[in-house]
Amino acid sequence: MSQYERDYQDPSEAPGFEPGDEIPSNVSANPTFYDVIDQALATRRGFMAGGLAVMATGLFGNVLGGKAAMASSSALMGFKPIPVSMDDTVVVPEGYRWQVLGAWGEPILGEMPAYNPDNTAAHQAQQVGQHHDGMHYFPIEGSSEDGLLVLNHEYVEPRMLHAGKYAGMAMKTHDVLIADSKRDDDEVLKEIHAHGISVYRTRKGANGWEVVADPLNRRITGATPMEIAGPVRGSTHVRTKYSPDGTRTRGTLNNCAHGVTPWNTYMSAEENWAGYFVNQDKVDQKPDLPREHARYGVPSGERSRYGWELAASGADDFARFNASATGADATQDYRNEPNTFGWMIEVDPFDPNSTPVKRTHLGRFAHEGVVFAKAEAGKPIVCYSGDDARFEYIYKFVSAANYEPGVTKGDILDSGTLYAARFNADGTGEWLALAPGQNRLTPENGFGDLADILVNTRAAADTAGATKMDRPEWGAVDPVTGEVYFTLTNNTRRSLTQVDAANPRAENAFGSIIRWEEGEADIFTWDMFVLAGTQRQSKTFTNAALSDDSIFACPDGLWFDDAARLWIQTDMGDIGPDYSGALKSFGMNAMLCADPKTGEIRRFLTGPWGQEVTGVVTTPDGKSMFVNFQHPGAHASDAQFAAGDYGSSFPDGAGKVARSGTIVITREDGGVIGA
Ligand code: FEO
Ligand code: CA
Ligand code: CA
Ligand code: CA
Repeated sequence: MSQYERDYQDPSEAPGFEPGDEIPSNVSANPTFYDVIDQALATRRGFMAGGLAVMATGLFGNVLGGKAAMASSSALMGFKPIPVSMDDTVVVPEGYRWQVLGAWGEPILGEMPAYNPDNTAAHQAQQVGQHHDGMHYFPIEGSSEDGLLVLNHEYVEPRMLHAGKYAGMAMKTHDVLIADSKRDDDEVLKEIHAHGISVYRTRKGANGWEVVADPLNRRITGATPMEIAGPVRGSTHVRTKYSPDGTRTRGTLNNCAHGVTPWNTYMSAEENWAGYFVNQDKVDQKPDLPREHARYGVPSGERSRYGWELAASGADDFARFNASATGADATQDYRNEPNTFGWMIEVDPFDPNSTPVKRTHLGRFAHEGVVFAKAEAGKPIVCYSGDDARFEYIYKFVSAANYEPGVTKGDILDSGTLYAARFNADGTGEWLALAPGQNRLTPENGFGDLADILVNTRAAADTAGATKMDRPEWGAVDPVTGEVYFTLTNNTRRSLTQVDAANPRAENAFGSIIRWEEGEADIFTWDMFVLAGTQRQSKTFTNAALSDDSIFACPDGLWFDDAARLWIQTDMGDIGPDYSGALKSFGMNAMLCADPKTGEIRRFLTGPWGQEVTGVVTTPDGKSMFVNFQHPGAHASDAQFAAGDYGSSFPDGAGKVARSGTIVITREDGGVIGA
């Protein structure tokens, strides 16, 4: 695709690049399974034969030739689909309504400071963070009208965050003010406070859902002290000036998607954390980064993404983002600070004094959430997490201990086995253990012990021979069948010689949803639920094409409700009304609903300009649905910003600073959402 994520010398200059995006860093020679094209294809649900056709057309063109979409047949979905939207509004089906809840800046703590564009870092620490992402509703005493909403925050858009100070300035979406190579401390601290996780009580009253001041309300930020747990705890990889024994670190960053454990805690994923650091170490004038930095794309240039290490005071809280070796050893500087990021974090939302824990056995990469298989008493805990960067992998963790309801806690995630997925062309797949001595992970091949493997998860998966995927984002587990679904959002850099059965399209601009069923031992069977795209360039597992009611691109968020409706959210980047690239026919980012049995998909929601739809959950009764809009207005040009045009009127109206926010969707007849 020419205008979206095409190859730029500096990928951050690409039109579709967001601060949340990872600069590609997988330069391993790991095979991309082009050779599998020559292999015979087995059939599972009859789709793999279609997969061959897809690969063939991938080689000679980009028309999939799926059958016309079938007439609606789903008993799961009772709503009328809505059309593609180009408008700066929220659209839901007939008979549905929506309200805003808990936008960025909504006060939840302490003095409850109201949102305004001049809020300080101290205010932000008492308010909902920016750029909402993964979200869960934890009922209080089982209630569907009173619970804790827990959501995380992926990144910040400094010009919106500092809209008071930056008013009238020609700022682009990623710009920050730097003067004499220094940044203002309070701006930096506000940015750190706008990251992390927000926990607040919400209740349904006569006028809809409201934020409630409550002792359980909490902000976890990029500065909150955290424990390091699991095999990496105490290892040399994570010893820093702050924690010379390698047991603690500060903060969680770039939280994208989440997970909910069977023991009712919230997990938050550290996705594109590498860009928050800079490592300027050089040998012979050339950058000299250890693999635990280089393989993840830690920048080696003048500054980190936001330049936090340039904070004028030079305070330790900020200096730690400089990961260069400046001290006598690792306990005198922050060369290891990036190694304390890239993990899944566990938080107990019902204990506001608890210390969040980084669970290192789930691996270190650009985590996009974690999804748990249904836990069964007396069996191990199983969970999955994707690494959202081009040509990265899908992972699974299996605990060593068995699940005991009411007894099992988060430390069950501290011992077990991490695996990476290999997808074979015959519809089978294999979980490759990332453990000492297995799959070539030996000292001779550069892997000393389990902590070394986990800190270098990507390199370990390269060595083990996992399949390079088209940016794995969210996963979801079908509550009825137990099948696991994953979105593969896009990968415009995959060439014709790099296509494989599981990633069958070159220059994949539209993405897909893959699914599998676990089998005996470490073997699974997989197929493609849907190849997303236009009416001509899409296909579901039934061999039907998507229609006007269902076309979509770049699936990202994914969630099954209790009735096994699959909710699909799109992230095509910062799409605004003037967007003219190849994704134009899909309109604004949207949420769709799918029936996993029939393959039917219907568009359920479209959002305002510039945003992506990410994060969805319902109350236990299914009658209130919470959905996030992230980065409305992010497409606005620097000239628009200078003129006081914030790109989108969401949520406060034209001329007001655009803010990420949650909406709550209900039905006018009080029924179950989607039914
Ligand atoms: Fe932050 Fe992979 O979406
Ligand atoms: Ca994004
Ligand atoms: Ca995402
Ligand atoms: Ca995304």
